[in-house]
Amino acid sequence: MFNISIISSSVRINRNSHRVALYFKNFLEGNKLAAVEILDLKKYNFPLFDERLRYQKSPLASVLDFAARIKSSDGIIIVTPEYNGGYPASIKNATDLLYDEWYHKPVAISTVSDGKFGGTQVLTSLQFSLWKMRAWTIPAMFPVPNAADAFDENGHPAENQDPRKRTTNFINELFWCIEAKSRMENFKQNLK
Ligand SMILES: Cc1cc2nc3c(=O)[nH]c(=O)nc-3n(C[C@H](O)[C@H](O)[C@H](O)COP(=O)(O)O)c2cc1C
Repeated sequence: MFNISIISSSVRINRNSHRVALYFKNFLEGNKLAAVEILDLKKYNFPLFDERLRYQKSPLASVLDFAARIKSSDGIIIVTPEYNGGYPASIKNATDLLYDEWYHKPVAISTVSDGKFGGTQVLTSLQFSLWKMRAWTIPAMFPVPNAADAFDENGHPAENQDPRKRTTNFINELFWCIEAKSRMENFKQNLK
């Protein structure tokens, strides 16, 4: 079973995108697809970035914990809201702390808004930053429009929603990438 970490990016008071993070956790655990933990940036409450972890002389325990969890995860799901056409500072503040931990890391991005377009304008800018750090962002989208109406506070879909099919497609893309990475690592070992 894969280990999946879900980064819940919003630190806003009364945030709604956290519902989507809870939804993915419920979905993956409920279907026995993965062992899941939520890396909640509101709980981590990192100070404003002043240097990358590898150059810090006395890093915070919370930063070391975050780095270790990213490193040991087979794949990452980032749930991010859209704020004025971009992603919130909280996710940039956290992702820039790391570098080597992102190397070949399969990452799926779910964008969230309370408007109609599900935060999709965030996608390319966040993908680009992760790509610069050599993460593998998967070519699948999971936009969530009208987040507060789509999921309740525990991450359960509203009665008029049935996101199972598109969730399966999204997760399958992430798992395909994780499996491909694992096979290539075996292949590299065979070459030695
Ligand atoms: C500063 C700020 C800017 C926002 N800009 C947009 C926007 O450009 N488009 C949109 O659809 N929603 C926008 N929203 C609404 C968020 O998408 C909404 O709050 C959503 O629930 C996800 O963010 P949350 O997890 O912080 O609640 C904005 C919210 C904030 C706080």
